[in-house]
Amino acid sequence: MSHKTKLAIFASGTGSNYDAIMAAINNGLLEAEVAILVCDRPNAAVIEKAKKKQTPIFSFDPKQYSAKADFEREIIQQLCVKGVEWIILAGYMRLIGQTLLNRYEGKIINIHPSLLPSFPGLDAIGQAIEAGVKLTGVTIHYVDAGMDTGQIIAQAPVTISEDMSKADLQSAIQKVEHQLYPTIIKQLINRGKQL
Ligand code: GRF
Repeated sequence: MSHKTKLAIFASGTGSNYDAIMAAINNGLLEAEVAILVCDRPNAAVIEKAKKKQTPIFSFDPKQYSAKADFEREIIQQLCVKGVEWIILAGYMRLIGQTLLNRYEGKIINIHPSLLPSFPGLDAIGQAIEAGVKLTGVTIHYVDAGMDTGQIIAQAPVTISEDMSKADLQSAIQKVEHQLYPTIIKQLINRGKQL
């Protein structure tokens, strides 16, 4: 049996990208296993999704820790037990600190709903609408200490048409995300296998 690359998904919200990655695994596109879901909001919808799919969950409340390094050390412990090789951020609303960056250098990626370096940070979709651009999209990038500043791996465009509401644009972007993220994860882990 070939080795299934072990992923950790970090999410804080709805978890539609978690679902898309799980679907890609289940339909055989992606030879990987989501070994753990890490969530910093114990009431997030993604937790219910992960329970249904029997993904192990580590959820924590950052307020219970005095520093980011403390909860990141605990996350690392959980990831090590599961043998996690890659960290996939999917709507994790928190900057990754030096503790995790050092341990998983070059193995943490994020998906962001704009064509970076345009519109980093919160509400990228609202920022694009506000700026009046006609083209936005999706970026997958390596994670560094900055806010959406790491090296870009892949991008895909989404056109903003005249009659589009913010909700329309969001669903057009998410549709692209759900295709692109599993595809790029597959490429990255296959590259790792060839090394
Ligand atoms: C996605 O739009 C992603 O680009 C951003 O957060 C959102 C997460 O959505 N980083 P979901 O929780 O996967 O539905």
